[in-house]
Amino acid sequence: MNNFKQADSKQCHPRQAHNRQAHPKQVKSLFSALIVAAPFVLASSSSFAGGDEANGEKLAQQCAVCHGADGNSSIATNPKLAGQHESYIVRALSDYRSGARESAIMAPYAGPLSDQDIRDLAAWFANQESDLGVLKM
Ligand code: HEC
Repeated sequence: MNNFKQADSKQCHPRQAHNRQAHPKQVKSLFSALIVAAPFVLASSSSFAGGDEANGEKLAQQCAVCHGADGNSSIATNPKLAGQHESYIVRALSDYRSGARESAIMAPYAGPLSDQDIRDLAAWFANQESDLGVLKM
């Protein structure tokens, strides 16, 4: 009964309880993976599940003068929002609101929006059909 000597020095001691469970190092890396992944999972579920398009359409009336009635701005300096990724719009509006993305034009519009307003607007604009065509070369 001396398989202890044969055990590879890199392996855990055969009689130690944790030999049967995941190695502590594996547990640690699994935890880090979860911590890294969590914000993305939360961000995507909140932005995709929480948007009320009908309310977004109402709120978007104030944006129409620059971004177009359906988010297809016809003015080159104002980005088209129709068909833009929902998570991108949420991020852009949150950043204008916090000041992380600077725009003297957008700041006063993003400032008063609540998190829910932002999700609603994003849901509505993301579901409008983009009139962007395919570039002909
Ligand atoms: C007075 C004109 C104007 C109004 C009104 C306006 N925007 Fe904008 N918007 C702009 C301009 C100009 C930019 C580009 C700013 C920049 O350089 O970041 C922009 C950028 C954006 C972007 C980022 C787009 C991208 O491609 O990165 C989003 C999202 C956006 N606006 C949403 C809205 C919403 C939602 C409203 C209404 C609540 C609104 N905007 C009202 C002019 C306007």
